[in-house]
Amino acid sequence: MNNPIEQFKEEVKQNIEKLGEDTQLRELSEQWFCKSMDDKYSYNFRWMGRPIIQYPQDIMAMQEIIWDVKPDLIIETGIAHGGSLIFYASLLTLLGNHGHVLGIDIDIREHNRTEIEHHPMFDKITMYEGSSIDKDMIQKVFEFAKDYQKILVVLDSCHTGSHVLEECRLYSPLVKQGSYLVVMDTCSEMIYRRMKEANEELPDHLVRPWKLGDNAMTGLQEFLKENDRFQIDTGIDHKLQISCAPNGYLQCIKD
Ligand SMILES: C[S@@+](CC[C@H](N)C(=O)[O-])C[C@H]1O[C@@H](n2cnc3c(N)ncnc32)[C@H](O)[C@@H]1O
Repeated sequence: MNNPIEQFKEEVKQNIEKLGEDTQLRELSEQWFCKSMDDKYSYNFRWMGRPIIQYPQDIMAMQEIIWDVKPDLIIETGIAHGGSLIFYASLLTLLGNHGHVLGIDIDIREHNRTEIEHHPMFDKITMYEGSSIDKDMIQKVFEFAKDYQKILVVLDSCHTGSHVLEECRLYSPLVKQGSYLVVMDTCSEMIYRRMKEANEELPDHLVRPWKLGDNAMTGLQEFLKENDRFQIDTGIDHKLQISCAPNGYLQCIKD
């Protein structure tokens, strides 16, 4: 192969495949990830000044997906401080494709709303308040989405199994071949399992409505049993190693 660009791509592809077989690195990554969860590591970052509750690896994965897919609408359930909405809006601005970001949250705190509305990226952002699986909300989202062609969906709201399964069912029809449905927080299953195996007590901030056997990972697994339009992009998991969304990057493989 003489083309240096293709050659480098191939080297990276092989490197990622090898990472997928590296059980030692996987074990170390899981150990590191669990310890970092104890330390609330994901709360430490900001994008253009706003807190983004993500691991930097997942932020990088989203950047690569957005570049490859070039969506004109990104829908995210779960806004919190708004850092992820602003991150997506900034990338759409750089793409220059007049794309938009729609965020949905059951509780948009007044101070967060004010900060987001005064942010330079706000002209690309719309926010709806309410439960992501509420019937009227879904109607509003589909009405909003009808003028867009290529939609990327990120689910990062309530991480119980039933809520995530319902979100997958309701939002997946918006995602078409080549784009992604990203399910965040699938790491919970691994964290709760390892803590149980080690007889460790959950720190207060990990005592949530979701738990071992009922979380984003189990919701996603149920969804994949009933839907054959999506496939886990394992290459992303292998490359990231450290991720809040293991097996959660679902590529749409058919319309
Ligand atoms: C993990 S945070 C979102 C983090 C954000 N995506 C980021 O990257 O910075 C989860 C958010 O989901 C919201 N939430 C919880 N239950 C919800 C529901 N049923 N519908 C919509 N949002 C919900 C919470 O209010 C919270 O702001």
